[in-house]
Amino acid sequence: MKLAIGNDHVAVEMKREIKAYLEEKGIEVVDVGTNSTERFNYPVSGYKVAKLVAAGEVDGGVLICGTGVGISLAANKVKGIRACVCSEPYSAKLSKQHNNTNIIAFGARVIGVETAKMIVDEWLGAAYEGGRHQVRVDMISEIENTGELAAAK
Ligand code: RB5
Repeated sequence: MKLAIGNDHVAVEMKREIKAYLEEKGIEVVDVGTNSTERFNYPVSGYKVAKLVAAGEVDGGVLICGTGVGISLAANKVKGIRACVCSEPYSAKLSKQHNNTNIIAFGARVIGVETAKMIVDEWLGAAYEGGRHQVRVDMISEIENTGELAAAK
């Protein structure tokens, strides 16, 4: 498995720890984030990880900023991306099973590294269930692709 990881200046230490944790599991990690605590605009990392995921160059992405909010918002602007910010493992697991998320995000100012590891584990261990969820994921894609949603008319 190959994942991309990205972060801003607030999340350098957590990024290092999560990257090492993933590598210990034998996962190849492409790190496009900053390693400096100098101010770094989170959309840059969000965009870079999202592009790698959308192009199929990696199997998924992990994004970390102060809250996980800004960096996931940026990633979600890239076509084909379903990024979700989570502060606990249950939502991370369900985000894969029901929403087929391809990027998980969290906040270095919000959760500790052990919770972050649990979130990553649950997300990586879960599989998209398809079935009844596919129609809803397809609706999200319809909004993304057309700017409209037929079911809402
Ligand atoms: C940086 O100060 C902070 O705004 C950023 O890390 C993140 O929390 C944004 O959503």
